[in-house]
Amino acid sequence: MTLNAEQQKQLNELIELLKIPSISADSTYKEAVARAADWVCASLRAAGCDATEVIPTPGHPIVYGEKIIDPTLPTVLVYGHYDVQPPDPIELWDSPPFEPVIKTTSIHPEGAIFARGACDDKGQFFMHIKALEKMISENTLGCNVKLMIEGEEEVGSDNLEQFVRTHTDKLKADVILISDTGIGSIQSPAITTGLRGMSYLEVSVTGPNRDLHSGLYGGTVANPINVLCSMIASMHDDKRQITIPGFYDDVVNYSSAERQEIEQAPIDDIAFKKSLDLEDLMGEEGYTTLERKSIRPTLDVNGIWGGYTGEGSKTVIASAAHAKISMRLVPNQDWKNISKLFENHFKAIAPEGVRVTVKTHHGGKPYVTPLDSLGYRAAFKAYEESFGQAPVALRDGGSIPIVPMFEEVLGVKTILMGFGLDSDAIHSPNENYGLVNFFKGIETIPLFYKHFAHLFKQD
Ligand code: BES
Ligand code: MN
Ligand code: MN
Repeated sequence: MTLNAEQQKQLNELIELLKIPSISADSTYKEAVARAADWVCASLRAAGCDATEVIPTPGHPIVYGEKIIDPTLPTVLVYGHYDVQPPDPIELWDSPPFEPVIKTTSIHPEGAIFARGACDDKGQFFMHIKALEKMISENTLGCNVKLMIEGEEEVGSDNLEQFVRTHTDKLKADVILISDTGIGSIQSPAITTGLRGMSYLEVSVTGPNRDLHSGLYGGTVANPINVLCSMIASMHDDKRQITIPGFYDDVVNYSSAERQEIEQAPIDDIAFKKSLDLEDLMGEEGYTTLERKSIRPTLDVNGIWGGYTGEGSKTVIASAAHAKISMRLVPNQDWKNISKLFENHFKAIAPEGVRVTVKTHHGGKPYVTPLDSLGYRAAFKAYEESFGQAPVALRDGGSIPIVPMFEEVLGVKTILMGFGLDSDAIHSPNENYGLVNFFKGIETIPLFYKHFAHLFKQD
């Protein structure tokens, strides 16, 4: 795509940010995470924010900036995260994860930028800084703006929660605006109206007091890896439903009208399969793919380890086996309750001869945006204006646990104006973000401010 001078500058700056390996999960990158925070703070200053600060926390810092133009105008609080997922498995990247490159692909004929964090979430929150810069310089900003960009989203946002709870006045706003989700399709855009909740646990199954020779002991003791695998396997039945007693008790069932609305999203099974090189999809019986990834809860193993995994072979029965398990939750499941149900069940199904432990990592509530709020109506008009067509509502399968927390603590609704595509490979090798998506975001955001200020005045 041919870029004008302003766009070229915006892209060059994003490339700079993407070069900083701000991996929040890995403590060896602590300095890089801090460097990313300083970089974001400087870019807020350059955009024209009056107050900017890097706020230390017991973990990674929070970056805050604001532009208050008139206390009688509405205030928009923008949230984003400058931390990224670890790039592993690094050998599956076509180019190094922290050396951004622009390439054209069949999905992005106009080019996409490849780097860890390109879409999740550096490329997306940076659109807000650039949109703000433009509105300030052209004197078209119609709202007060507060921006809070954190460095621990990918590890559970523990310290942000504390910060929000102790700074409710500072963060007072009329709407929260986040770009950290998808748009469905750039040809027919969708606004995200739902996110799943989550419960993340780690389990261990321990057997004999040491690793054993699998010939001398095989057949005489419970093998922790075999046991863990069969315990995990038993947690789904033949309809692919989760077998934990009580798991579905609080799950909201939707009317056929609501289920039809979900099918409006611009995603179909054929394209979905093709994008993953799969002949078949698999999920809970009685639900469509879109329902399975939005209004239905899931249980997935994210990692499993134990025993010998090095080169060649070693005959051994491991003393212990471990797995990391996530459950995606939907309204009105409570993650603490679900974590407890999991733990009780997991302990109950453990056979004699092993010990099990269950550790809760983190969790969060699901979220649903009402379609009649000022914020949603403003977003709707903004998309209509920039895309020339009405957006559809899309319930997404991912989680941003901080969003329901914002509502609970600040009493403010969040509008999820994401511009990513499923093919952006977030959390995977070769993460990328379309240049069209990036620039379309910078174009659409100011329209949100315009319509929000307008609706707010009328209200
Ligand atoms: N931006 C994602 C969440 C997302 C992506 C929601 C696309 C909807 C569509 C976010 O950074 C993320 O990865 N969240 C984590 C949860 C967190 C507690 C680690 C997730 O969903 O796994
Ligand atoms: Mn994200
Ligand atoms: Mn993420």
